[in-house]
Amino acid sequence: MAAVEQAKNYIDGKWSWPEGAQAIRSLNPADTREVVCEAPDSPASEVARAVEAAYRAFPAWRRTPPPARAALLRRAGEILAERKEQIGRLIAREAGKPIAEGRGDVQEAIDMAELAAGEGRRLYGDTTPSELPNKMCLTLREPVGVCGLITPWNFPVAIPAWKAFHALICGNPIVLKPASDTPLCGAWFVQALVDAGIPPGVVNLVQGRGSVIGEALCNHPRVALVSITGSTETGRAVAAACGRNGKRVSLECGGKNAQIVMDDADLDLAVEGALWGAFGTSGQRCTATSRLILHEAIHDEVLRRLVARASRLRLGPGTDERTEMGPLINESQCRKVLGYIRIGREEDKATLLCGGQRAEDESLRYGWFVKPTIFADVTRPMRIFQEEIFGPVLAVIKVASLEEAVESLNDSQYGLSSSIYTRNVNQAMWAMREIEAGIVYINGPTIGAEVHLPFGGVKGTGNGHREAGRIGLDIFSEWKTVYIDYSGRLQRAQIDTESLVATTAGRKE
Ligand code: UN1
Repeated sequence: MAAVEQAKNYIDGKWSWPEGAQAIRSLNPADTREVVCEAPDSPASEVARAVEAAYRAFPAWRRTPPPARAALLRRAGEILAERKEQIGRLIAREAGKPIAEGRGDVQEAIDMAELAAGEGRRLYGDTTPSELPNKMCLTLREPVGVCGLITPWNFPVAIPAWKAFHALICGNPIVLKPASDTPLCGAWFVQALVDAGIPPGVVNLVQGRGSVIGEALCNHPRVALVSITGSTETGRAVAAACGRNGKRVSLECGGKNAQIVMDDADLDLAVEGALWGAFGTSGQRCTATSRLILHEAIHDEVLRRLVARASRLRLGPGTDERTEMGPLINESQCRKVLGYIRIGREEDKATLLCGGQRAEDESLRYGWFVKPTIFADVTRPMRIFQEEIFGPVLAVIKVASLEEAVESLNDSQYGLSSSIYTRNVNQAMWAMREIEAGIVYINGPTIGAEVHLPFGGVKGTGNGHREAGRIGLDIFSEWKTVYIDYSGRLQRAQIDTESLVATTAGRKE
């Protein structure tokens, strides 16, 4: 038997397996008989080792000119591009995504490398006049310090890239903790940075369980910032720990995203969008469409078309080019999704239109496959309308007006992504303003964010930060304000400003 690949830790420029650590096995979710790799169930002492290495590397990395940091990120992006097919296939095996989505995941990381590398020649601050003569003021972006990055399995390369590249271009060293479901994707991502020539200690990787590694990152005194993408529950626990320890924290958490379809919409387009938004990545995106809000005039017609399409989606392993929808990530997620389907049928008494169970095909019995599931006759208080399921389950609700549609969309503890299909520009503009979400799509599905725009949400989705885009730099930098007085004398702000005061007073008289 071929030796199982190991997804080790990478600390201070070396790959290593911590002595005595048990192995966590990463299984192919489409066929759990296949072990994709083994990763160490690292103890907290590995976090300490990684953080110390990062802290030692910080002064030199901070002083490296940003365009020189950018050159390394650009090279990492090129390496990811050279390995796109290979890493895309790994994502299909380890995360279960259809191969096209695996390639897209890598592409998002490549795009992010390009964006962050470009920022190396910008990282703009402000210059502004002073209120006093012969004095000037300016602002500089400075790194924060050692950043702990906790990333999920569903974008096992793209999300580490969103966080890592912005952290690095700002001059911070990082300790990455990839999801325990996708440790090899995490290792291959770091390998690209290593091969690009990133100096030892600047990028570190610790494999293991969130309860051990995540907690150690939140409690280590030399970690300045923790950025996490995960469930709202985990995010809040991380924020509480960071709050106690006075650390910066950036949260990217749950969603319960809705797509509205108005009576004047292009229905073919709307159905296509709902299908991709709800069942792409098997509904396992924080941006996935899990609620569909249909105007009563087109309700039956949209459902008829959508159910026909959803029931025909081809389930299979991500590595098969013909697969349209892959499995869920693991057993506990499969149980959770089936649990919500039971709640929808029994407690909520919604009407199950399709799916509602695991796939029956013999070839899929070793994977966590759940059929695309659609519930109609859903009402707003129902749990399947309110709670994040993170699976291929769509809750459909009927409304009579645009106002009711937007009110239903906003009836959520989350606010990440949203969508409206309409051909009426007035309705689109009104919805754009009234929707409570970080992202609004007009005539497009709720998934598909591009890296050069801010990504994040309101309400329970986050804590006010946005990742990616130019603004993503704000998470990973501090502002330093500099006053330069070249008058050669003491000038007191607010006091030695008689000329300003006199003018104002003069105007009043
Ligand atoms: C996520 O699910 O956490 O917009 C990120 C999208 C992707 C990113 C999703 N570009 O769906």
